[in-house]
Amino acid sequence: MVDRIQSIRGMHDILPEAGAAWSWLETTIRRVVEGYGYQQIRLPIVEKTELFARSIGEVTDIVEKEMYTFGDRNGDSLTLRPEGTAGCVRSGIEHGFLHNQMVRLWYTGPMFRHERPQKGRYRQFHQMGAEAFGMEGPDVDAELILMTSRLWRVLGLQGVRLELNSLGSAEARAAYRDELQDFLRSRRDELDEDSRRRLESNPLRVLDSKDPGTREVLREAPQLLEALDDASREHFEGLCELLSSAGIEYVINPRLVRGLDYYSRTVFEWVTDELGAQGTVCAGGRYDALVSQLGGRETPACGFAMGIERLLTLLEAQSLLPTLAGPRVYVLSQGAAARREALHIAEAVREARPELGVQVHCGEGGLKAQMKRADRSGAEVALILGEQEVAEGMVTVRALRGEAQQTMVAQTALLAELLRHCPIDQEGH
Ligand code: HAM
Repeated sequence: MVDRIQSIRGMHDILPEAGAAWSWLETTIRRVVEGYGYQQIRLPIVEKTELFARSIGEVTDIVEKEMYTFGDRNGDSLTLRPEGTAGCVRSGIEHGFLHNQMVRLWYTGPMFRHERPQKGRYRQFHQMGAEAFGMEGPDVDAELILMTSRLWRVLGLQGVRLELNSLGSAEARAAYRDELQDFLRSRRDELDEDSRRRLESNPLRVLDSKDPGTREVLREAPQLLEALDDASREHFEGLCELLSSAGIEYVINPRLVRGLDYYSRTVFEWVTDELGAQGTVCAGGRYDALVSQLGGRETPACGFAMGIERLLTLLEAQSLLPTLAGPRVYVLSQGAAARREALHIAEAVREARPELGVQVHCGEGGLKAQMKRADRSGAEVALILGEQEVAEGMVTVRALRGEAQQTMVAQTALLAELLRHCPIDQEGH
């Protein structure tokens, strides 16, 4: 017996039965974001390791232990992208499309993180993200949030709540960081092990610890929102006001910090309670310092990314996924002449009504066996071509669902007969 090769842990095949849901979700997302004037950008999956180390941050979980990093044949250190923001900024600086402009971008594709796989957390996963450059006011933060909120509405999703926080300016955050660190050091013995480690390397991350003991200590910790600089406070209040006037509900979560270091001011997450521990379906915020940090001119920026797998799981839990849309017409034939004719007829139907989907029976088999396949295919109608039909320029049309109905029609009348069985709505279904 030869050993069978399996897929890599945490990296999943998206099988044909899931294909319809994926395309439907991707199309829905595209329509919504393009409705806000965002343009698609497609970037490489592999970048120089340094890009992620400098943007996401050296002392983050992602950079410290989750990246797929390898040496290129020429000795460069490369990494499979763990997220999309760094690549957008790199590309914008490289092609000069960020400076002094207002740019709205969106992207989708696979991302890679060597995390411990579990439900909702994978090593290869897919994100759809949006990034807006060159706008410093809270109106663009609000726009990004409105866009996601509209998407939930279009998808029919219920129960995703918006959590908001502000991390302030880099200076205010550094001052708060020291204050928090002093406080946590004074309570070191009460913290869990992970938090004790983070206390020294990245104390802000202690704020989102799930450990009950640590959370108890945090209740008395100084608050980030109280340490905000004036300009950041004004920005945050402006955003809250815009959201309220747009009718968007939100919860201010002063403990909301992010696992990536590039944020300043606004951070937000859309969270559900239906997915267990991996309840964040979409997350983002402002990163005004990142462009200059990566060598570009100072450019304000804001964005988010959503996890496609998590969204699909949530859509499924709420019974919102469309069913598989297979071909609606199945063509059978018997005899060499009929087989040739079957190909012509199938092509003619595809030409006239591509949205119907036509599958032609391939290979041998009597009509009875072919009919079984037609039944199993999920199609609504079978077109049957035998010697008689070919000789007379006719086609037999047989309904496969509901009441058994079979009629023979002239080839010229076929399309009308087909549409009687398979009406097409405005969406093309
Ligand atoms: P993130 O919070 O690391 O942010 O990821 C965004 C979303 O991607 C998460 O909320 C989650 O839905 C999904 N996600 C992350 N890791 C996994 C995983 N291992 N398995 C499944 N889904 C996952 C970012 O990536 C930032 N680039 C977002 C951003 C864009 N900020 C500004 N612009």
